[in-house]
Amino acid sequence: KTVAVILMGGPTKGTRFRPLSFNLAKPLFPLAGQPMVHHPILACKKIPDLAQVYLIGFYEEREFSLYISTLSNELKVPVRYLREDKPHGSAGGLYKFQDLIMEDDPADIIVLNCDVCCSFPLTDMLEAHRNHGGMGTLLVKKVSKEVASEFGELVADPKTGELLHYAEKPETFVSDFINCGVYIFTPEIFRVIKDVTSSKHERSVVRRLSSFEALTISSSSKYTLQADFVRLDQDILTPSAGKKKLYTFETNEFWEQIKTPGMSIRCSLLYLAQYRVTMPELLATGDGKKSPTVIGDVFIHRSAKVHPTAKLGPNVSISANARIGPGARLIHCIILDDVEIKENAVVMHSIVGWKSSLGRWARVQGGGDYNAKLGITILGEGVDVEDETVVVNCIILPHKTLNISVQDEIIL
Ligand code: GDD
Ligand code: GTP
Repeated sequence: KTVAVILMGGPTKGTRFRPLSFNLAKPLFPLAGQPMVHHPILACKKIPDLAQVYLIGFYEEREFSLYISTLSNELKVPVRYLREDKPHGSAGGLYKFQDLIMEDDPADIIVLNCDVCCSFPLTDMLEAHRNHGGMGTLLVKKVSKEVASEFGELVADPKTGELLHYAEKPETFVSDFINCGVYIFTPEIFRVIKDVTSSKHERSVVRRLSSFEALTISSSSKYTLQADFVRLDQDILTPSAGKKKLYTFETNEFWEQIKTPGMSIRCSLLYLAQYRVTMPELLATGDGKKSPTVIGDVFIHRSAKVHPTAKLGPNVSISANARIGPGARLIHCIILDDVEIKENAVVMHSIVGWKSSLGRWARVQGGGDYNAKLGITILGEGVDVEDETVVVNCIILPHKTLNISVQDEIIL
């Protein structure tokens, strides 16, 4: 059997996702109209012998209960949320729930970071993993040298694919092959995490005896020094490399990390393009008298109302109960639940938060640089942009009313 674990993190992190993470856990933020975590769950569903999907994080249970109940009712995927009382790190979280994860006696455990967007080629990875017979398989990708240091960099044997060397976000260049945050392990992983935990525990006892060091430990290393805080990358992959335990599986398909709201617009685009191949029925066609004009890939929730004279796309996702008025023009944007966009308003490279409204001829846009802090415009929940007001490259915190035009500002 196979069990999947999705690492969700928790509310003390994800600061870069503000203000969109104020009322919603980041893993539930919609990409191409589906919660971020829904995409890896759909990929897990395709595995023939899947016994269970566990979501592990330190968010409160109730944040996911509605989502999980619709999952089990509609998709029939057995999903359970397991809550950590505090952050244990990506491997520490797994270890804490070892008994539950091993309940179905799985031969393979799939481990996924919730904040990556990719095609999740799990079936092919599983086959490669079973063929080499090692403890683990990592999905890897070649990226440009300039960005590699934002990720775990690694060196693999070109013939066997064995992981030879691993460095997490190194300061000096190691390799342009990076860790995609998608893994398959055999249950042996638990023994390795246990060994790391025990040696960390021994070191922390020694440390506690040294009062001098206790005074100089910075608060940022508070977590990492705790024996039950274990990171999959630094603490497990780095020491296990070069021991014929870990192997790589390279992907040439799309892959991105989702750390900022800007990246979520880009990832929406990638998932919409994937629907074209996997679930074209989810895309708006623009056919029919009452349909708006649709360009490229567009998702419209069935409860949203879009006027037939509106023009949408490419890369537009419209969530539940949104109302888009006559002549509105939407390009590269995410429109969240209950938004109202009045006639002839324009939205480009922007995210419009829940229950926000745009007046007639209003314009909300970003420059489209998804890596820049102010490369898109984000309206938090319940923002009102009045008629004819222009908002360019701004982050607007929830419940503001804008009646004068603004540019390159964060409105608190
Ligand atoms: N349950 C739980 N508990 N999850 C956690 C914890 C924890 O204490 N800490 C992190 N996570 C989750 C995050 O939500 C995320 O899904 C995943 O674990 C990895 O998060 P980080 O440890 O913050 O690492 P990162 O995202 O900066 O980088 C990792 O992923 C990259 C690929 O996206 C590294 O493994 C990189 O090497 C890798 O390139
Ligand atoms: P993500 O986007 O979720 O990675 O977090 P962030 O970078 O927006 O959050 P922040 O800037 O607060 O934290 C930067 C890094 O510090 C994170 O990537 C984590 O590695 C680490 N970190 C922050 N808060 C916590 C925490 O509560 N627990 C743990 N384990 N790590 C944390």
